[in-house]
Amino acid sequence: MNTKNNQKIKELIGQMTLEEKAGLCSGSDFWHTKAVERLGIPAIMMSDGPHGLRTQKGEADHLGLQDSIKAVCFPAACATASSFDVELSRKLGETLGNECNAEGVDILLGPAVNMKRSPLCGRNFEYYSEDPYLAGKLAASYINGVQSKGVGTSIKHFAANNQEYRRMSNSSNLSRRAFHEIYLPAFEEAVKQSQPKTVMCSYNKINGTFASENKELLTDILRRDWGFEGCVVTDWGAVNDRVPGLEAGTDIEMPGSGGINDAEIVAAVQNGTLDEAVLNQSVERILHLILDKEQQEGCVDWEEEHEKAVHYEEESAVLLENDGVLPLASERRTAYIGEFAVNPRYQGGGSSHINSWKVTSALEAAEKKGRKVVYEMGFPADKDEYNEEMAARAVAAAKEAETTVIFAGLPDVFESEGYDRAHMQLPQCQNRLIEEICAVQKHVVVVLHNGSPVECPWAEKVSAVLEMYLGGEGVGEAADALLWGEANPCGRLAETFPLRLEDTPSYLNFANDKYDVNYAEDIFIGYRYYDAKKMPVQWAFGHGHSYTSFAYGNLQTDKETVGEHETVTVTVDVTNTGSRTGKEVVQLYIKDETGAAVRPEKELKGFYKLELAPGETRQAVFELDARSFSWYSEKGADWYAASGVYRICIGRSSRDLVCEKEIQFVSERHLPFTVDMCTCLGDVLRHPVTARVFGEMMSQGSSERSEPSLMDSSDPMMQSMIDSMPLRNFKSFVHMPDAAVRGIIEKMNQALQAEK
Ligand code: BGC
Repeated sequence: MNTKNNQKIKELIGQMTLEEKAGLCSGSDFWHTKAVERLGIPAIMMSDGPHGLRTQKGEADHLGLQDSIKAVCFPAACATASSFDVELSRKLGETLGNECNAEGVDILLGPAVNMKRSPLCGRNFEYYSEDPYLAGKLAASYINGVQSKGVGTSIKHFAANNQEYRRMSNSSNLSRRAFHEIYLPAFEEAVKQSQPKTVMCSYNKINGTFASENKELLTDILRRDWGFEGCVVTDWGAVNDRVPGLEAGTDIEMPGSGGINDAEIVAAVQNGTLDEAVLNQSVERILHLILDKEQQEGCVDWEEEHEKAVHYEEESAVLLENDGVLPLASERRTAYIGEFAVNPRYQGGGSSHINSWKVTSALEAAEKKGRKVVYEMGFPADKDEYNEEMAARAVAAAKEAETTVIFAGLPDVFESEGYDRAHMQLPQCQNRLIEEICAVQKHVVVVLHNGSPVECPWAEKVSAVLEMYLGGEGVGEAADALLWGEANPCGRLAETFPLRLEDTPSYLNFANDKYDVNYAEDIFIGYRYYDAKKMPVQWAFGHGHSYTSFAYGNLQTDKETVGEHETVTVTVDVTNTGSRTGKEVVQLYIKDETGAAVRPEKELKGFYKLELAPGETRQAVFELDARSFSWYSEKGADWYAASGVYRICIGRSSRDLVCEKEIQFVSERHLPFTVDMCTCLGDVLRHPVTARVFGEMMSQGSSERSEPSLMDSSDPMMQSMIDSMPLRNFKSFVHMPDAAVRGIIEKMNQALQAEK
């Protein structure tokens, strides 16, 4: 790290007492680090995050129980992820960075990028996606936005924290491949592209070791492999054993332990069990965090910020179904049913809970615009309670109207930080009323307010479904603009909506054990699983409609063959074939056709959002590199793509691919390979080096032996037998002396070594 403060920081460390240094490694209270006044080291302040400021100036807590300042509540990540819009993510970051400056916040605690392993995770509303590529791109631009204002961020929760049940003690047990391929890349992308000032380590263990004590995670992967330069901060209370934590790479303990853990650090240095250099290194990083900050003026016009919240939500909501009923014609007599129309659920519970600046409901927004709307409550927004009289009035109003819009969603208690959802259903009172209204009204629109997928048993019966997610305080105005056609929906699902909970990949291994979470589905999460199993889903990853239509054509690559150190540019033309301006999210998926490894059927490796006027054509442009084709090899402890054919697929969604093109990838690398008696013949023959040596040795010896000509057989059964025959069996099969086989093995290993 090279900053103007290097020298000053070295001097400060020399002047600090052991106690001061240990003290700097934990908070003074819930939100501040400790100042060292005699040396002019100020405290810095942290605040949640991620979709608005939860800055507490009075009583403090990390569960969203006590009051915080008034601030604008922006759409939660479940919504903004659906924008598939990195520019929007950056703007949201800039907006929040500016607010932080106005409120004296130095570090904003976000973004939260954990993968949505199950729709049941109570905190999914704060997370982006089931896809690491999408989450990484959005997080990196959010961080760049915040940090462009001189404010730091804390990407969280590092890592494999994918459920709330016993999040503070359970162990996420997963393969190295799933870890690197699914659960780490969003962090990796953000660290490499935006260098967040801090990373927040999670509460849980990973394969038995607490994240806050995990040297492999916090030092080897994060710092050595990815080049992270900032500080690791614990999640609030995520310290298990402070001294090993410091040694593993955890710099700051939040919120602090009232000095108990600081004293442990001091004692460990004094009794020689902790090298003071380790402490000094953390102190150096923390001093950089504090002193390198370039303070900027922040000036907030809260009304303007509110308008931004509305706009971001308009760009994020997903039109899941539409038989043409939407947008509503302005003269249409419409019934609004469901308490969410007046009391929208727009944010989740827990540490991200904002004391919102102002909330406008969809009904208020409609009334302001003079729309022909009547309202009936139908069902409550905060519980599952069917009320005959209320329902009857709603059905009557629906029958009278030309169209009915039902504002449905999950009550607050159904999903929150701190616990997981018990099921994937909407409250039964809502499902029942939706069915009753469908029986009397042909044009039913359902508007959803939820942080994670819900089962929609009525999906085939309604005319339209508009997913608002937890859309922030502007959700009512955004819903109004989208329903009545003042805005054109352009969000796409950042997660699959399965048909039912039992279909989900982690169904058998989610929050059902007190100590362990076994990630048995491995790399197959979300669409990777549903695609591999060819399962029907309610709505696919990447799906979403618009009020206009788009056509694709002219898919091109700038080369047919791409080498390991090259990039390939992919372009495709998209035309707006409808009659209004709209945005399309062009998605690029890659299919590995080499057969070299177990891979998902396809994976998202690019997305590009385009705005097009009617009749307009523009090009979506993607750049792919070796990583785009690669998977994480445990053997090679690295990303790897085999040479061979890959298919580039352009899609409107993961289940609606519109054009595709083959490309040849050429790798100069081979996965580490050593041969022994148990190595199968097929593997020997597939590797160019061993195949050559083996061929040479066999032809030398063949005149002396009379074995059946195995290798030349074209019988499929024989071929398959050869392929999976270990050398030890091959030896007996061809009556070859043990020493001869061992000699061939040695030659092959020597040749493999020489190749390295
Ligand atoms: C949450 C973090 C949050 C912190 C501070 C913890 O409970 O997991 O996401 O930033 O509290 O409120």
